[in-house]
Amino acid sequence: MELVSSKWVCAFLLCFWLVFSGAYSVEGLRGNSKVKGVNLGGWLVVEGWIKPTLFDGIPNGDMLDGTEVQFKSVTLQKYMCAENGGGVNVTVNRDVASSWETFKIWRVSESTFQLRTSLGQFLTCDGEQCSVSAAAGLPSASQTFFIERNNGRVHIKVMSGAYLQATVGNQLTGDYPGMPSWDDNAATFEMTIVSNNLHGDFQLANGYGHNEAKEVLKTISRFLYRHRINTVRIPVGWWIAFDPNPPSPFIGGTLEALDNAFSWAQSFNIKCIIDLHAAPGSQNGMEHSASRDGSTGWPTPDNISQTLDVIDFLASRYARHPALLGIELLNEPSVTMVPLDTLVSYYRQGYQIVRKYSQTAYVIICQRIGNADPLELYQANIGSHNIVLDLHFYNLFDTFFVNMSAADNILFIYKSREAQLQALNNANGPLVFIGEWVNEWNVTSGSQSDYQDYGKAQLEVYDAASFGWAYWTLKNDRKHWDFEWNMRNNYLQLGKYLKSSVFYFEHTSWVLNLSSPVTSDLCYK
Ligand SMILES: *[C@@H]1O[C@H](CO)[C@@H](O)[C@H](O)[C@H]1NC(C)=O
Ligand SMILES: *[C@@H]1O[C@H](CO)[C@@H](O)[C@H](O)[C@H]1NC(C)=O
Ligand SMILES: *[C@@H]1O[C@H](CO)[C@@H](O)[C@H](O)[C@H]1NC(C)=O
Ligand SMILES: *[C@@H]1O[C@H](CO)[C@@H](O)[C@H](O)[C@H]1NC(C)=O
Ligand SMILES: *[C@@H]1O[C@H](CO)[C@@H](O)[C@H](O)[C@H]1NC(C)=O
Repeated sequence: MELVSSKWVCAFLLCFWLVFSGAYSVEGLRGNSKVKGVNLGGWLVVEGWIKPTLFDGIPNGDMLDGTEVQFKSVTLQKYMCAENGGGVNVTVNRDVASSWETFKIWRVSESTFQLRTSLGQFLTCDGEQCSVSAAAGLPSASQTFFIERNNGRVHIKVMSGAYLQATVGNQLTGDYPGMPSWDDNAATFEMTIVSNNLHGDFQLANGYGHNEAKEVLKTISRFLYRHRINTVRIPVGWWIAFDPNPPSPFIGGTLEALDNAFSWAQSFNIKCIIDLHAAPGSQNGMEHSASRDGSTGWPTPDNISQTLDVIDFLASRYARHPALLGIELLNEPSVTMVPLDTLVSYYRQGYQIVRKYSQTAYVIICQRIGNADPLELYQANIGSHNIVLDLHFYNLFDTFFVNMSAADNILFIYKSREAQLQALNNANGPLVFIGEWVNEWNVTSGSQSDYQDYGKAQLEVYDAASFGWAYWTLKNDRKHWDFEWNMRNNYLQLGKYLKSSVFYFEHTSWVLNLSSPVTSDLCYK
């Protein structure tokens, strides 16, 4: 059964190859090739899941920006609640905790925090014997609390030194007499950490504090320097435009690293795509867009205009660099939080800005993530030439793929992905780029040959994308996501697809020469 369908698929692919091979090439690449790339994910924009140990040294490391917590009074056995989700008083009267009883942390230091309600206001204790309210739009001293921890219990102290307590009338007031002990008393709360999923630049920098974060981030840069890794798609954060002194809490140094990447790329005849991965305010609420607490504040005129300034900065700096292939205006805007007309207007302005500096650099626009049809941007008429639509193909992040067999995953690539790519290739519009994909899936017990087949299917299909593809990502603590691990362990067999490839990267002891047509790609030095 499987054999039959894979034969059918091969026959189909052969026709497909004859029709489409050579139909497209990307200007500026050696040998009129297409992009066959790898992402430098987690390098200039931190993503904790790619390298979790980066966060290991942070004191109180489970209380970073965006961590969601709930507090239950041990005397009342009731949860603290921002009535209506914020805007009025705080009470301690709920038996069950859900969104009004959940607070997002803004971390000020390892022991001081601000607490944000589900509607975005901050808990406030103003003056002596205050009654805690949840009405402040922006936090300052009256919104900042010491949180002292002891085995799941906490005491919350205001800056003046008084401890908060839950009164018998279910209010929260800043007037506990003296210093509470850890037994059952009105100033003691059980704190539940509901989630602490965000581990991005904001969390890392604010977690360590500026000086230490700078040292931690240097180790990433040094790592890449030692390995002299170069590639096509480089995620950057908006603060790169303010280097060497970006706004707090972001850490300088990424611009110098990007300059170096361009120099190495040039010496290896590699092209770079700069990908604006994190925009001011965050375009998707995730750590990889440097969201502070999961909110998506990008779609405001101020943030968008600041983002266009960042594109201007990047275009003016790199437009004439021989290693530049393109600039990606924004990575993965959220379909629910970023309206299409806002995005299209931003993309049109971004296109014009890049064209001020370069007639040839590719301008890359990314599809919205979530349930969005790529055609929405395909038809948006964003620019006249050298424009590319970036689609991210993961057989993950959707219940559709949960419990799917290896064979069904592969069939999905050949049928659904391929049909979509073919339709877009044939449409009159931007070139198509699979700017992120990975040789991982929801299959739990895939064998090496399952992975090889899956990788082969993806390479065959994505090779047909008119602009090309880039693997996510070069280095990753999760081995199936790690390009280098996939190559060294023969899980991903690039050799025959990369006869005229776009990049190499050099390791201390060996060179992976993807230009080499021979099957053994690893040339030991
Ligand atoms: C807030 O609490 C204060 C003190 O208990 C009370 O006087 C006031 O009415 C409360 N406000 C609201 C909106 O519940
Ligand atoms: C983005 O916009 C929000 C809302 O206007 C603002 O609070 C925030 O400071 C902006 N972020 C940046 C980084 O400019
Ligand atoms: C996946 O399989 C497990 C175990 O059989 C089942 O409990 C779960 O509901 C399935 N999930 C989906 C989304 O089909
Ligand atoms: C598969 O999906 C389930 C549900 O989303 C998730 O819990 C699990 O970690 C996934 N497994 C893999 C191998 O990705
Ligand atoms: C890679 O292989 C190609 C083809 O065999 C060869 O011309 C080139 O010099 C090699 N590059 C490196 C860096 O070894």
